[in-house]
Amino acid sequence: MQQKYHIVTYGCQMNVHESEKIAGILQEMGYVSTDQKEDADIIVFNTCCIRENAENHAFGNIGALKKLKREKPNLLIAVGGCMTQEKGKTDVLKKKFPFIDIMFGTLNLEQLGELILRKKSQKKKVIEIREKEGEIVEFTNAYRTSYPNAWVNIMYGCNNFCSYCIVPYVRGRERSRKPEHIIAEVKGLVEAGYKEITLLGQNVNSYGSDGSTGMTFAQLLDAVASIEGNFRLRFMTSHPKDFNKDVVDVMEKHRKIMRLVHLPVQSGSNTILKAMNRRYTREKYLEEIQMLKERFPEVEVTTDIIVGFPGETEEDYLQTEALVKEVDYASAFTFVYSPRQGTKAAEMENQIPEDVQKDRIMRLVELVNSLTRQKSEKYVGKTIEILCEDYDEKKDLCMGRDEFGRMVYFKSAKESIGQFVKLKITRANGISLYGERVEE
Ligand code: 5AD
Ligand code: SF4
Repeated sequence: MQQKYHIVTYGCQMNVHESEKIAGILQEMGYVSTDQKEDADIIVFNTCCIRENAENHAFGNIGALKKLKREKPNLLIAVGGCMTQEKGKTDVLKKKFPFIDIMFGTLNLEQLGELILRKKSQKKKVIEIREKEGEIVEFTNAYRTSYPNAWVNIMYGCNNFCSYCIVPYVRGRERSRKPEHIIAEVKGLVEAGYKEITLLGQNVNSYGSDGSTGMTFAQLLDAVASIEGNFRLRFMTSHPKDFNKDVVDVMEKHRKIMRLVHLPVQSGSNTILKAMNRRYTREKYLEEIQMLKERFPEVEVTTDIIVGFPGETEEDYLQTEALVKEVDYASAFTFVYSPRQGTKAAEMENQIPEDVQKDRIMRLVELVNSLTRQKSEKYVGKTIEILCEDYDEKKDLCMGRDEFGRMVYFKSAKESIGQFVKLKITRANGISLYGERVEE
C-alpha cells in the first residue's frame, strides 16, 4: 500500500508555496497526499513564528499528536518552517514534544527527503538546521495545490530588519533567483494552464539589488508580463521604501498586471514608522498612493497594519486611522504587535498594555470592515470579469476573484475552475459578493 503524507501549514503565502515544495519532495519519494492525519504515515508541520499566536497554534497542534503517535509508533512527525530556525527553538520543541522524529528549517528544505531516509535507518531523532543561507536551490517539482493560481518565488530572505520582525533572523539575507529560472518557471506554468501567477518575495522591489541578476524588479516584471498567454500577474510584497515609478511604468505597459498593489504601511505615524525602522515617512507613502491613483484611476491598494507597537500613543493610533481613511484601502490585514525574541522592539521599554492594544485593534478592524462594506455596495449592478478558482460543495456555488482580489460566488459547474467568467453582481454580503453569469 502506498504511504501517505499530511502537511499542516501556518503563516503566509511564502509558507503555503513552501508546503507545495515539501509535497513535491514527498511525492517523489512515493508518498501520496491525505486530508486525514489519522491515515498518514508522515505528518509535516510547516510552522510560522511571525507572531506569538502562530507559534501557539502550532504548539497546540503538535501536542495533540501525542496520542496518535503512541497508537501508531511508525508514524513519522516532522517539524520545519520558520519556528525551527529560531534560536533555541529546537531545544524547546524537543523537550515539549519528545515524539517529534525530524526537525528541519527554512534554509535546508531541500534536504527533507534525505532526512526522512536517515530517520528510517536510525532510532535517534534527526535534527538538521542550517544557520546561514546557502546557494539558492531550484525546485522543479513543487506539487501545486492551488490551480488556477500559482506562486513563484523570485527571491528569498530579507535585509530590512524592521524592528518588530523576526523574518530576517529566520530566513537569512536577501538573495534573488536568476531571471532565466523565474521566466522558465512562469512559461511552464502558463503552458500548463495556470491563469494567475503571483511573484513572491519579502521585498520584491529590491530584487537583484545586490547586482547578482543583471535586472531590477521592474525589468523582471516587464519580462514576465511579456510572456505570451492569457494570465493575470501579481506580485507581493512591496516595501514602500523601495516601491517606485519604474514598477508603475511597467504596470501601465501590461494590462496583465493587476491593478491591485499590496503596500504594507504598518503605521500612519512618523514617530512609530521611525521606531519600526521602516525608512519611509507617512508623506512618502501617501505620495506613492497618489502616483498609483493618478496612473490607474481604478487601482486598489491593500496593506498590513500593526497596532500597539511600543510607544504608540492614542495620537499615533489616530494617525493610522486617518491614513486608512485617506488611502481608502480595499482591505487590510491588521495585527496586534507581538514581541519577538531577538528583535529590537522586544527590548523597547514602553510596551503597550494588552487592553489598550485590544481596544485599538477592534476600532481599526471596524474601520477597515466599513470601508470594505462600502466598496462591496458599489459593486452591485456592475458587470465584472472574475477568474473561477474554486467550487464550494456545501453552497453548490463556484467562487472566483476579480482583478482586485474580491471574492464572488456564483452558480456554475465545477468545470468553470480555471476560466475567466463575466458576472453581473446581484448582491453584496459583507465582504462577499454574489453574481450571475452573463452570456458573452
Ligand atoms: N507583531 C505583529 N505583526 C507583525 N508582523 C510582522 N511582525 C510582527 C509582529 N512582531 C506583520 C507585519 C507584516 C506582516 C506579514 O506581519 O504587518 O507586514
Ligand atoms: Fe519583516 Fe520588514 Fe523584512 Fe517585511 S520587510 S519581512 S516586515 S523585516
